[in-house]
Amino acid sequence: MQYLPIFTKLDNKPVVIIGGGEVAVRKARALLKANARLTLVAPSFDKAVYALQESFDITLIQATFDASQLHGAMLVIAATDDETVNQQVFNAADEMNIFVNVVDDQPKCSFIFPSIIDRSPITIAISSAGTAPVLARRLREKLETLVPQHIGPLAELVGRFRNTVKSRFSQLSDRRQFWEKVFDSAVVSDIQSGNTTDAETRLKSMLEAESKPEGEVYIVGAGPGDAELLTLKALQLMQQADVVVYDYLVSDEIMELVRRDAELICVGKRMGNHSVVQEDTNKLLVDLAHQGKKVCRIKGGDPFIYGRGGEEVQELAKHNVRYQIVPGITAAAGCSAYAGIPLTHRDHAQAIQFVTGHCKKDGNDLDWASLAKPNQTLAVYMGVVKSPDIQAKLIEHGRAETTPVAIVENGTRKNQRVFTTTLEQMASEIEAQHVQSPALLIIGEVAALHQELAWFGKTEQVSSFAQPITKVGQTDFRVA
Ligand SMILES: C[S@@+](CC[C@H](N)C(=O)[O-])C[C@H]1O[C@@H](n2cnc3c(N)ncnc32)[C@H](O)[C@@H]1O
Repeated sequence: MQYLPIFTKLDNKPVVIIGGGEVAVRKARALLKANARLTLVAPSFDKAVYALQESFDITLIQATFDASQLHGAMLVIAATDDETVNQQVFNAADEMNIFVNVVDDQPKCSFIFPSIIDRSPITIAISSAGTAPVLARRLREKLETLVPQHIGPLAELVGRFRNTVKSRFSQLSDRRQFWEKVFDSAVVSDIQSGNTTDAETRLKSMLEAESKPEGEVYIVGAGPGDAELLTLKALQLMQQADVVVYDYLVSDEIMELVRRDAELICVGKRMGNHSVVQEDTNKLLVDLAHQGKKVCRIKGGDPFIYGRGGEEVQELAKHNVRYQIVPGITAAAGCSAYAGIPLTHRDHAQAIQFVTGHCKKDGNDLDWASLAKPNQTLAVYMGVVKSPDIQAKLIEHGRAETTPVAIVENGTRKNQRVFTTTLEQMASEIEAQHVQSPALLIIGEVAALHQELAWFGKTEQVSSFAQPITKVGQTDFRVA
């Protein structure tokens, strides 16, 4: 290890910066955050230095560098654009055994400034020992998205209770066990949802009585398949669950991201083949929560759009089980974006209706007259099997046979396929292409825009999939 990572407490300790320009100001700001007692030395200072002096108690010495200026300093930073001066600063500090950092000159650094993820009081520092700062920054960006925002307030709360817990449990192992329980308890979700007072009350009562951990259910929307469409909250809850209850609509790529040691329970649902009936799933969630488990009920798309999330939440509420609901990107939003089809468009569609094709046999539970109106978009979920009936009913109620239709199979996934056709040809196209579930039907004028906007599928910003197949009428082309 080239550098030992330590966190130093600078509170009012002397730090000297040699330099009076922009770089010196940047370093000064970082050091002032840690309440360092700062002295800046330079023959002249930028305006920004004087501006800084108006807000902070810093000492300015207008002079050329002299080794005597470093006496008593805990840290020294050389931030001049003169290599000779920087070298002199390094030599002098090194001789006096003072930690020194010559900005952007790693061989002349006995300490370095790491990239920081700040969730005070939790701080994560990343360093590449000066070899690859851009790589370290990218890693920091990745970690930023993974470290939950609530970790700071949680650590603050823990800090406030540290001494009380110490006096309550004399043994280190007992204290550790207690904190483990707290981090597995609803104290975390209280903090997560901003209820610090509730969290504190709960922590106090956990201290008073050794209660059994309280279970909780997270109803999480996983989106249509591309793992990059998961929300940060979904990912966090997937990582903290003891049990994950999932079905076939959740992609393998997403299931890869659940906590490694979580128990996985499949309540596999495919249309027309409900391996676990909904009532049993509801009961399972309640039972697991009553056992004190953190349960992540993960669903494709959004849990409240044809996801039966409502029924599950009703059951949880009935049995006084704590729950959180995390929305997900619904299939209509995901499929339309990845197929280059805007669901509304000022020239083509002023409204959108989400419809299920999984309706009664005669289809009479839908308002076909309203669904058949022009200049609107229908996003039909679970419509593949019933496509002949849907097509017939819409045409019967006045929708033009030439209305454009897009069929999006496995939307947003690596194996996404998009077919465009007309309402009159919809069912036969589905049959001819052997369209498989999950597939979404987008019916309306906007579907024609797929041909114009399909190039979107080629750009990495819209999709990271490798080779989606797009079929427009009879023309078959692969996106490179
Ligand atoms: C039971 S519904 C669940 C909908 C989900 N809750 C949502 O918000 O997207 C299942 C239907 O959603 C649509 N669907 C879900 N994911 C899809 C995907 N990746 N591509 C195309 N259609 C999808 C299909 O119509 C599928 O039959």
